[in-house]
Amino acid sequence: MGGATEPALFTIFGATGDLSQRKLLPAIYNLAQRGLLPAQFALVGYSRTQMDDASFRRFARAAIEAHSRTPVDDRFWPAFAQMIHYQPGGFDDDKHFHDLASRLTVLDKDMGGGSHHVFYLSTPSSFFPVIVRRMGNAKLNRGSAGVRIVIEKPFGHDLQSARELAGTVHRWFKESQVYRIDHYLGKETVQNIYALRFANTIFEPIWSNGYVDHVQLTVAESLGVEHRAAFYEETGVVRDIVQNHLLQVLSLVAMEPPAAFEAEAVRDEKAKLLRAVRPMAFEDSVRGQYGPGYVAGEAVDGYRTEPNVPADSATPTYIAAKLEIDNWRWAGTPFYIRTGKRLAKRVTEVAVQFKRPPHLPFSREASEHLEANSLVLRIQPDEGISLRFGAKAPSPTLSIRSVNMDFLYGSSFLTDVPEAYETLILDAIKGDGTLFTRQDSVERSWEICDPLLEQWRIGQPQIYPSGSWGPDGADELLARDGRRWRRP
Ligand code: BG6
Repeated sequence: MGGATEPALFTIFGATGDLSQRKLLPAIYNLAQRGLLPAQFALVGYSRTQMDDASFRRFARAAIEAHSRTPVDDRFWPAFAQMIHYQPGGFDDDKHFHDLASRLTVLDKDMGGGSHHVFYLSTPSSFFPVIVRRMGNAKLNRGSAGVRIVIEKPFGHDLQSARELAGTVHRWFKESQVYRIDHYLGKETVQNIYALRFANTIFEPIWSNGYVDHVQLTVAESLGVEHRAAFYEETGVVRDIVQNHLLQVLSLVAMEPPAAFEAEAVRDEKAKLLRAVRPMAFEDSVRGQYGPGYVAGEAVDGYRTEPNVPADSATPTYIAAKLEIDNWRWAGTPFYIRTGKRLAKRVTEVAVQFKRPPHLPFSREASEHLEANSLVLRIQPDEGISLRFGAKAPSPTLSIRSVNMDFLYGSSFLTDVPEAYETLILDAIKGDGTLFTRQDSVERSWEICDPLLEQWRIGQPQIYPSGSWGPDGADELLARDGRRWRRP
């Protein structure tokens, strides 16, 4: 990965919050340590807590020690700490934003002028319109070099609110200045979907309804809702995972090859693919909510008895659904998706299930254990790819068995995988929008999800035991089509 070279000022709104502590500060530290940040770089933390630079440096160090994938290096820390600054202020106060603007002007001068400005909105989404407006009033949307604004999901609550949010943001920023983070797109294994498909000749010819029977996308989490009940009650599984992470991964798996690996070319193809995805249908979906159960041998509560969840909550924590793509390449090849909390284990994978051979020249006994070919992209954990195919088992009688050919990131590259946030923050500093979501994709993703969300306003989710693979209805959904979920 090439580093950033042009001077940059990186401001985090909500610098003392959870995301900043767990992801942003550690990611910036790791980028700095790997020598990928520009020589002229300053980080400015902005939030309501009253602190000075020295206390924020201590705060940042504690966060990095707790969450960084690499330990803090005492020899490097003093140089890094010098780059960190703090500006206290509210999110809805013109004076504080003017103070921030003055502070940035001074820092820019100290660095020799001409810095790019990156503003990271790491606050609850209800603050986005407020912050953007105050930034506009303080002319923080203008600069002698590039000005970029990074926004975390959720990008709206439905199509209409997503459009309203975009309307506000676009009053002050051009679309090309807006970097919408979907951290799945920064994962190495998700980026490898491009490499697998477009750096090889052998997969693309069979990557269509001619050879692929169906695709299964799984985002399974073993954790429950944790301390995020207030957020999750408003959100639910479709808004939390499907509208963004899952549809983004699906678009990479199914899109047409872009002419270049460059922001607009890639995002055009993804948007085109999403336009061909049929909006989700009630009858092709199953919703679930976790009940009490056991995860990794430990007894855990059901969703309704988690702290701050109403005892009669109907919020779904699980969905399984069949998606259809109405284009030449994929018509008739369903994409089944499932995602949920408190499932048997944490695993995210894409399984491409190929069709059975048109004719098997072997006896029934010889091939009874043979499964159809599959290619499984393991996004996390155990990052890698497996190809499953039939092989003759060593024996004097003919017997064909299914075997795996495995690629493991860890053993092939022998290197630590960078965190998604490192990749995405560096791209935002460099001004490369390839791995960020464009507004047309955001809107189309809401169009795909909104009809189902509307129908789910009434009725109840099926309760599944924590530690299971979801409600029985999910198995029935596939059984209807003569198919079965994989057990990852
Ligand atoms: C977030 C969701 O976007 O993604 C969380 O809000 C979820 O609910 C998380 O747990 C999953 O991310 P990862 O990287 O752990 O798969």
